Amino acid sequence: MATLKVDLGERSYPIYIGTNLLGDNELLHQHIPGNSALIVSNETVAPLYLESINAMLTGIRHETVILPDGEKYKNLEVLNQIYDALLANRLDRNTTIIALGGGVIGDMAGFAAASYQRGVHLIQIPTTLLSQVDSSVGGKTGVNHALGKNMIGAFYQPKAVIADTDTLNTLPARELRAGIAEIIKYGLICNAAFFSWLEQNMDALLAKNSSALSYAIEISCQTKADVVAADERENGSRALLNLGHTFGHAIENCLGYGEWLHGEAISAGMCMAAEMSRQMHWMTAADTAKIFNLIKKANLPTHAPESISTDEFLTLMSVDKKVMDGILRLVLMRGIGQSTVTSDYSRNQLIRAIESTTTVTT
Ligand SMILES: NC(=O)c1ccc[n+]([C@@H]2O[C@H](COP(=O)([O-])OP(=O)(O)OC[C@H]3O[C@@H](n4cnc5c(N)ncnc54)[C@H](O)[C@@H]3O)[C@@H](O)[C@H]2O)c1
Ligand SMILES: [Zn+2]
Repeated sequence: MATLKVDLGERSYPIYIGTNLLGDNELLHQHIPGNSALIVSNETVAPLYLESINAMLTGIRHETVILPDGEKYKNLEVLNQIYDALLANRLDRNTTIIALGGGVIGDMAGFAAASYQRGVHLIQIPTTLLSQVDSSVGGKTGVNHALGKNMIGAFYQPKAVIADTDTLNTLPARELRAGIAEIIKYGLICNAAFFSWLEQNMDALLAKNSSALSYAIEISCQTKADVVAADERENGSRALLNLGHTFGHAIENCLGYGEWLHGEAISAGMCMAAEMSRQMHWMTAADTAKIFNLIKKANLPTHAPESISTDEFLTLMSVDKKVMDGILRLVLMRGIGQSTVTSDYSRNQLIRAIESTTTVTT
């Protein structure tokens, strides 16, 4: 088992990564300060792993709430089911909410923990690759609103994150690849050596080799933890984590959420950012080709769907959360592992990049 630390002063917390962690009672117990807990899961994950969590909680009074499965249920109405369970079971301020599931459950349970009685303890047990490398780390929680994704939420750090790679054995291959997209992102942001490692080990990851997965999760979480520790509330450098996301969110939004998985959309988005960086002579053609090739090797899309017009892109991108004072800041690359947040580009450069990456030309 690897243990990482997210360094946020008194809100610091450990991330445990490894196999068979859901059999380790001590691990969970040491992070539950009180004597009660509420497990939040969904109808897909609960039948697979709830029993293990129940077994780990002997001696602690625990209740469960099972939500419907899917991004479309990540809203205030369904969130209310968590508050209902907390109140109906008279769980007090010293209770611990345990999020058991992917990013949707993590974000919802996290927001419930942040807001119930102004904040109760939270433990994340992420069960998708995406949630193990991304959403469970960093403290962003929240739900969607009909007019925008993740628009209602809070920053709220967990007491611990327990990422058991065994849970990935039941994860559908498409969901695994979506998580790999975020892993590639970390290499591109600031770690060229990790990007090279991914070039060598992509087949092992796709085959769910547990030591390859553990290593990739560890490096990814460490990278995210470092970026978050430097800028917890996204006033500056944390925006690097949005590489590929401004383009990707436009794709998700235009197609309708769920058509493409988030990881698929940001894969195309990272290629769009790479191509734009190449066209601006910030990055070499060789590095750009490496990025496209690695994303292809992971069976992820390198281009946005043809059905989205450039105008639609521009409109959707300008409502992205990253717009501050009317200026759209993008994450572009000076090379592999050298991403940078910038508004130093022209509208024409953006248009040209979109046009050359919305149809497959190779
Ligand atoms: N808070 C953050 O910083 C942050 C970062 C990235 C993404 N997110 C959010 O995370 C969500 C996406 O997360 P996700 O990709 O994990 O999606 P998800 O939670 O919808 O999970 C994907 C699917 O896999 C199923 N599943 C989960 N674990 C499984 C397992 N072990 N075996 C079989 N099936 C399993 C789920 O029930 C679901 O059907 C989005 O809502 C996104 O906004 C948040
Ligand atoms: Zn993402």
